[in-house]
Amino acid sequence: MKKIERAQKLISRLSAQLSCPFCGSHLVLAPTLRLVCAHRHSFDLSRKGYVNFLYKPVNTRYGKSMMEARSQMFRAGFFDPLLQEVEKQLLTYDKKDSSTLSILDAGCGEGSFLAFAIRHLNNQETYKAEGAGIDLSKEAIQMAANAYSDVVWCVGDLARIPFAPHQFDVLLNILSPANYTEFRRVLKKDGQLLKVIPGNRHLIELREALGCPKGIQAVRSEEVIQHMKKHMPVMNSIRLTYQTRLPEHRLPYLIEMTPLSWKVPQQKKDEVAKNKLNRVTADFHLLVGRQWSRSISMKKEILVFRTNLQSAEEAQTLQPLLAQLAGVYEWNTDLQDCDRILRVVSSGAGSRDIIRLVRSAGFDCCELED
Ligand SMILES: C[S@@+](CC[C@H](N)C(=O)[O-])C[C@H]1O[C@@H](n2cnc3c(N)ncnc32)[C@H](O)[C@@H]1O
Ligand SMILES: [Zn+2]
Repeated sequence: MKKIERAQKLISRLSAQLSCPFCGSHLVLAPTLRLVCAHRHSFDLSRKGYVNFLYKPVNTRYGKSMMEARSQMFRAGFFDPLLQEVEKQLLTYDKKDSSTLSILDAGCGEGSFLAFAIRHLNNQETYKAEGAGIDLSKEAIQMAANAYSDVVWCVGDLARIPFAPHQFDVLLNILSPANYTEFRRVLKKDGQLLKVIPGNRHLIELREALGCPKGIQAVRSEEVIQHMKKHMPVMNSIRLTYQTRLPEHRLPYLIEMTPLSWKVPQQKKDEVAKNKLNRVTADFHLLVGRQWSRSISMKKEILVFRTNLQSAEEAQTLQPLLAQLAGVYEWNTDLQDCDRILRVVSSGAGSRDIIRLVRSAGFDCCELED
């Protein structure tokens, strides 16, 4: 079967779960092989087997050579212990029903983590798995779609994930930026986030050879953990540190695969690549976050919006939509006010999500700042 036919089949199966990244409305796969929403935003299904959800290409430093280097290091086994730990977490996920485990990899890069994890789960008795991967880098997604055809691959921004609320049991977010508002929106009620960040000894030998400033990584890991805790309860935190042998010919891949070398002059990188690093340390924190739930208390805030809601009946049409959005504690309207106020008591729901949702129901909505 051709790549595009396979992708078409996968997307048709998933189409009820997709939503327009711009207005949040439902997407339908047209015969022209475009996903189209009610507001005529449309997204091409590429012949190479992925969907592009970006209207404008984004300049990113996560280009082809970096992704090829990551793929090489993945195949060489550098990430194996981390992959095994991720797979272990997926296998012990406490699924409440017998349906397929749905996984989204947010910032999936060239796709190996997600594709291997899904294959591993599907070879076990526990439950079947299916997934989607999203990444801002078109080159990364092209590589993913080329290598693995059993996953829905999307070029897109994780700040506008093209899926409807509460579609995924598990989100992977491996060595990539996070957007917790979006993560909470697309996670199911009992869903989990598996987030991986580098620890302070990660690639320490390489950092020393490249002359990277000491200590930065340690500070950043702590900041990232604290930031995550503000957005969702962290149920478990696993530290994984190991050393691997690094054959000489792999050193250039190691240098190329990491953002650590972005600030290092090419001459310095060439110099380091000529030397030997016999062993290299991998050091990760695997953080297990849980979907926010009403039983867990979080700080509440009141968000106020100007709308064009005309009547209580119109306001009522928002009820099923707002009820679906994680982090909406309660809401009301003041239709006597000239700004036709919508007030939302939020325990983590972001104003952007609320605006998107109200607009998807056909009303104007913008936030009134105090
Ligand atoms: C260090 S790579 C990790 C990729 C992959 N998870 C892995 O471990 O090989 C970071 C990835 O995050 C992606 N990324 C950065 N910002 C993003 C955004 N706003 N939306 C989607 N992906 C993003 C980059 O394109 C890149 O592929
Ligand atoms: Zn749309």
